[in-house]
Amino acid sequence: MGNIHAPVQGGKALSISNELDAICQVDALPLKELNNNVKKFYIESYGCAMNLNDSEIVAAILAREGFGNTTNFFEADLILINTCSIRENAEERIRARLREFKKAKKENRDLVIAVLGCMAERLKAKLLEEEKLVDIVVGPDAYRDLPILIAKADAGEKGVNVLLSRDETYADINPVRLSSNGVNAFVSITRGCNNMCAFCVVPFTRGRERSRPADSIVAEAQGLFNEGYREVTLLGQNVDSYHYINEEQNVNITFAQLLEKVALIDPRLRVRFSTSHPKDMKNDVLHIIAQYHNICNNIHLPVQHGNSRILELMNRTYDRAWYMDRIAAIRSILPDCGISTDIITGFCSETEDEHRDTLSLMREVGYEFAYMFAYSERPGTLAHRKYSDDIPEDVKKRRLAEVIELQLQLSHESNLRDINKITEVLIEGDSKKSNLHWQGRNPQNKVVVFPKDGESIGDYIMVKIINCTQATLIGEKV
Ligand code: SAH
Ligand code: SF4
Ligand code: F3S
Repeated sequence: MGNIHAPVQGGKALSISNELDAICQVDALPLKELNNNVKKFYIESYGCAMNLNDSEIVAAILAREGFGNTTNFFEADLILINTCSIRENAEERIRARLREFKKAKKENRDLVIAVLGCMAERLKAKLLEEEKLVDIVVGPDAYRDLPILIAKADAGEKGVNVLLSRDETYADINPVRLSSNGVNAFVSITRGCNNMCAFCVVPFTRGRERSRPADSIVAEAQGLFNEGYREVTLLGQNVDSYHYINEEQNVNITFAQLLEKVALIDPRLRVRFSTSHPKDMKNDVLHIIAQYHNICNNIHLPVQHGNSRILELMNRTYDRAWYMDRIAAIRSILPDCGISTDIITGFCSETEDEHRDTLSLMREVGYEFAYMFAYSERPGTLAHRKYSDDIPEDVKKRRLAEVIELQLQLSHESNLRDINKITEVLIEGDSKKSNLHWQGRNPQNKVVVFPKDGESIGDYIMVKIINCTQATLIGEKV
C-alpha cells in the first residue's frame, strides 16, 4: 500500500520497483521495565505502511506477553519477519533474509522463527516445507494467536494460522510505536480490499475489506496527540471506501466524516491519509480537506496506467477521462494540493502507443511524485489466470526507465515552482546531510530542509523556499 507510499516515504521524490519494498527495521521498544532476563523478539517489516503498522500491533501483543525486544537478531529468542508479496522481487528479498537468519538458528537451537504477513498468507503451510527453518506461519488476521503458537513452537511444534477474518481490525490493541520519531504515526482505519485489480495479490493476502470503529480510531489519534505526536496518517488500501456502520448504536460514518472527526482533535495535529482510489474518491472528502487547515493538501491517487484499454484489463473500473475528471475536481477544490501516484509499466499486452499514454497522462497531471514499477505477475491473480505476461522483461524495464525519467523531471519542475513560496513545515528531525539543519515536510508532503535556530522536533515553522533539488526543498525560516 505503495504500498501505502507517499506519506511513508515522503522524502523520496520517487522510488524504483527494486528499492521500494523497503525494509523497515524497527528500533528498540521503549519498554523501560523490561530487563535482560526476559525473552526478546526481533522484528523486521517489508512492504507497505499497513504492514509496518501491523508489526506495531504484533509488538503490542508480544509486550503483553512479557517480551522485550532487540535490534540484533543474534540476541533474539524469537525472530519475526513481516512479509510482502506484492511483487516477485519482494518475496525474493524475504527468502534471502530468511537464509541469513539460519546463522542465528545455528548458534541458538531454541530460536523460534515466525513468518508473518502477506507471504505467510499466500504460501500458508507450504512455507514450512519450503523454508525448513521457519517454525510459525501467521497471516495478517491471526496475530492474536501468536502467543499460543509461540508456546507450541517452544515445545517443538510447528504452527500455522492463516485464517482470514471478516471482522478483525485489532481495534482494541494500542500499537507499540517501534521506529518512531515521536512526531508521525500510522493509524489503520480499514483492513483488506474488496477490489479485484487484475494484477494485485492484496485481496488474496488481506481478505475482505472491513472498517474499524470510528471511536477507536479517534481515541488512538487523540492518545497519540496527547503523547506529543503531531501527525497521523490514516491507512487503508482504499480509504475512500471506509464506512463504519453499527446499527445497534445507530452509527454510520463515512470517510469524509471520519476525517473531520480526526481533524477536530486539535488544529495542531496534522492529518494525512493513504491510499485514495480514483473510483471512490468523492468531492465530499475534498471539501472536508478544504475546510480544515490541519488536513494536509496531499492526495495519493494511484492511476496505474494512462490508457483506458489497459485500465479496463487491469480491472481498475475507471478510465482515463474519469481519472482526469477527479484530478480536475482536486485542482478546483484544492488548488494547492500535492498529487502523487503509482504506475505500472509493461502490463499484459501493453503496446508502445499505450505506454506513451501513460507518459502523456503524467505530463497532463504534473505529479509531485510517483512510485513506479515494472509489472510482476502474481500467482492466482486475475491477470495470471486470464492474460499472458507477454511483455519482455527488457521492454518493461525500458518503459519503466522512461516513466522514471519523466517523473524526475516533473518532480523537479514542481519543486522549482515552489521557490519564493512560504510553506508550513512540521519538523521531524535532523536533515540527513547536516545536524545544523532541520528536516520536515510541508502539507504537500515535500521534504523541506532549513537551518536550525532554536526550534524543536514537532514544531511548526513557516519557511520560505529559496532553492531546491529534484527531491528536496531548501528554505529559511521567516
Ligand atoms: N491499494 C492501493 C495500492 C496497493 S499496492 C491502490 O489501489 O492504489 C501498491 C502498488 O503496487 C499498486 O498501486 C501498484 O502500482 C503496485 N503493484 C501492485 N501489484 C503489482 C504487480 N503485480 N506488479 C507491479 N506492481 C504492482
Ligand atoms: Fe490491490 Fe486494487 Fe485493492 Fe489496491 S485497490 S489493494 S491495487 S486490489
Ligand atoms: Fe502491503 Fe505488500 Fe501485503 S504492499 S498489503 S505487505 S502484499
